[in-house]
Amino acid sequence: MDSVFVLNGPNLNLLGLREPAIYGSDTLDDIAGMLEDRARALGLEIDMRQSNHEGHLVDWLHEANAAGAKAVILNAAGFTHTSVALHDAIKAISVPVIEVHLSNPHRRESFRHNSFVGGAAIGTIAGFGAFSYLLALDAAARL
Ligand code: DQA
Repeated sequence: MDSVFVLNGPNLNLLGLREPAIYGSDTLDDIAGMLEDRARALGLEIDMRQSNHEGHLVDWLHEANAAGAKAVILNAAGFTHTSVALHDAIKAISVPVIEVHLSNPHRRESFRHNSFVGGAAIGTIAGFGAFSYLLALDAAARL
């Protein structure tokens, strides 16, 4: 079965509690549950992970590549706007990476308007809350 890695960056472990007016009340576990259901319907397997550490995300991108994953869905959270290392990691692998955000960074502070991930990803889905992840999984299924 094709696998899709779903990688989540810093502070997303606090989803549900963290600024719910911006990020919604679903927890990361809730989102994982929704993705599992959708993945089953699409005949995909998901591997969902979260870390507050940049290097873990780099390592997991490499791992997705080595495992021959069909795609990576990446919410790099704050590292989106700072990480040349994540940009380089996405460029270094052949697995397509879909950038995802719960909020729409372009409607927010100007420091969120640049994405080091978006310049290397195959596409970006942002602004639909937890549904952004489901849209990304549908996109992954069609790659
Ligand atoms: C986020 C948007 C980022 O700007 C922010 O740093 C996050 C979450 C989102 O999913 O909306 O941590 O990636």
